[in-house]
Amino acid sequence: MSPGETVGILVDTSSAEDREPEVNCTAAVVSTASSAEDISLVPQVSFEPALDSPGINRESQPLLGGLDVSYNQFPDDPGFSELVWQAEVAIDNGIFPERISQGSSGSYFVKNPQGKIIGVFKPKDEEPYGRLNPKWTKWMHKLCCPCCFGRSCLIPNQGYLSEAAAYLVDAKLNLQIVPKTRVVKLVSETFHYPRIDRQKARMKRAIMEQFPNVGLRFNRIGLPPKVGSFQLFVEGYQDADYWLRRFEVEPLPSRMSQKFQLQFERLVVLDYIIRNTDRGNDNWLIKYDPPVIVTATSNGTIQNETAPDTVDWNVVQLPEIKIAAIDNGLAFPYKHPDSWRAYPYHWAWLPQAKVPFSRETRELILPLLGDMNFVQDLCDDLHILFKHDKGFDKSLFERQMSVMRGQILNLTQALKDGKSPVQLVQMPAVVVEKSQGQQPSRFFSFTQRFQDKSPIFSWC
Ligand SMILES: Nc1ncnc2c1ncn2[C@@H]1O[C@H](COP(=O)(O)OP(=O)(O)O)[C@@H](O)[C@H]1O
Ligand SMILES: [Mg+2]
Repeated sequence: MSPGETVGILVDTSSAEDREPEVNCTAAVVSTASSAEDISLVPQVSFEPALDSPGINRESQPLLGGLDVSYNQFPDDPGFSELVWQAEVAIDNGIFPERISQGSSGSYFVKNPQGKIIGVFKPKDEEPYGRLNPKWTKWMHKLCCPCCFGRSCLIPNQGYLSEAAAYLVDAKLNLQIVPKTRVVKLVSETFHYPRIDRQKARMKRAIMEQFPNVGLRFNRIGLPPKVGSFQLFVEGYQDADYWLRRFEVEPLPSRMSQKFQLQFERLVVLDYIIRNTDRGNDNWLIKYDPPVIVTATSNGTIQNETAPDTVDWNVVQLPEIKIAAIDNGLAFPYKHPDSWRAYPYHWAWLPQAKVPFSRETRELILPLLGDMNFVQDLCDDLHILFKHDKGFDKSLFERQMSVMRGQILNLTQALKDGKSPVQLVQMPAVVVEKSQGQQPSRFFSFTQRFQDKSPIFSWC
């Protein structure tokens, strides 16, 4: 094809969402969806590969066309901006995010240009009930029987916000257990895209290469970026399950056990405030570096031995134990589950949950949560975060905050009364509603309401 030649290609710049056929439940779903996959909107034309992009994958290039380049900039956090930039550079160079195989939805390990994993990205549209979740059964469940599947107490498809909001709560309370998580936009050919998006991207790229003047009029070349949560990857951690089993047979030295208890209490505080409905022992991580004695041998090498509990701690490399609370996407419900047994906090069965909250935790949390202004600030910050979602609904958000205030009320009381985490989760669920009055924002009145009778078990 020579540059002067005209081609009969009708370029459609509308989004894929606009074009996707309406689908109904039942067998029609499958046939309609698969026929959408089969529709060929582009003529079968083969193009020469780009000459000017060795090693650079154009299809995945983030935001050509100069749109939205500020989205992944965090002026308050240059370190995080730099990290996301690293991820973008890696993607440009063909080092793509890799789907996490054990994950229940579309979650990806994101790498830097050296191929090292630096983050976990969860796109909104690949969430368990997202439009493009690769696991079709979940999608079918939602479509065919929404009342029986999923968590009806949660706003669907806002898991990425819940992830970022959990970090926000963590940071406000200085818990330091949630790896930094913020909302970003990324694009990668390894993400799940409908075929139509891929075809459009290929076509635009081809036009751009053959007819740069026409191509310049496109808003974007390449696949559409996905919005999602980006969480820092923490190294040296294992699923909590792994260590909890080990601790059963090899109990922690007593100092470590106390340290672990304090970390554990922070996890309880976080989960209770955000009313996490998905805290299994596979959704938090533990890093444990057992104490080792560092001794120089006669030939000059360093030998590490695991230190017994009785050893003088000054002569050993300090042991460390840390918890990371990951996978916080199913939290911030807008109503309480009918029974806490429906979505229990699995940590409630651990021996650590029977121990009353420590003085350290009380001193960290009570001055903050006991202050109404602090709680209002927290709600305001969450509002700023949540309102960015296209489906944001103010009244549902207020209900989410009413549940959270109720949780905070119970937690504060439990801490004052010297209760244990087990006793905390047995307290009756309460919501604290903000009045609808016309008062200036800092002077709301609140109404406390207890959850109605709890059935033994319900979906939500
Ligand atoms: N921030 C992180 N740092 C290190 N490993 C992580 C992190 N987030 C997730 N992982 C690993 O990836 C696995 C799946 O992540 P998870 O957030 O639980 O995804 P899903 O929502 O798909 O269940 C986890 O079990 C853990 O091993
Ligand atoms: Mg998980």
